[in-house]
Amino acid sequence: MKTVSDYIRTIVDFPHEGIMFRDVTTLFADPRGFRIAVDQMLHPYAGLEIDKVVGLEARGFILGGAIAHQLSVGFVPIRKKGKLPGATISEAYTLEYGEAIVEVHDDAIKAGEKILLVDDLLATGGTAEAGIKLVERLGGEIVSCAFVIDLPDLGGRARLEAMGMDVHALCAFDGD
Ligand code: PRP
Ligand code: MG
Repeated sequence: MKTVSDYIRTIVDFPHEGIMFRDVTTLFADPRGFRIAVDQMLHPYAGLEIDKVVGLEARGFILGGAIAHQLSVGFVPIRKKGKLPGATISEAYTLEYGEAIVEVHDDAIKAGEKILLVDDLLATGGTAEAGIKLVERLGGEIVSCAFVIDLPDLGGRARLEAMGMDVHALCAFDGD
């Protein structure tokens, strides 16, 4: 029986030489793969109070939407700069080359709401940390951060756990 990691395709030397790109499009495209990924991401939260799911652009939208639907809660997108039409707050974070900025609508989360943060992959943790800061600036409480893939060598899990976060990932790949 195939498990989640069996549905993830590895593309060598993308986006540049030396990178093993973990491609979740093959997981999402498979009916059983997508089903078990979403179901397994939900398992740790059975019985917990979650008010909203926050997804990180872009692949976090695919998973986060399905998870929010399953939990019967609302979905809030965290988007790259300039995409959201209303009033926003923003956070800068560091990429391999340079900086990026993510934004959330300033009325998307109410103080005290319990939030599940969702993305496809945890690498350095920079993207997730920016998302956590946005949620917390609006008064949201992060219940947990859920990912399909953890790349532990890049330190993201340790970084988020050092912030006091609960972190769940369905699988890990070494050597990236
Ligand atoms: C990838 C991935 C995560 C992030 C993880 O997204 O989908 O969101 O990088 O990296 P980090 O832990 O080092 O921050 P990417 O920035 O490539 O954008 P995309 O999801 O819009 O394709
Ligand atoms: Mg991403």
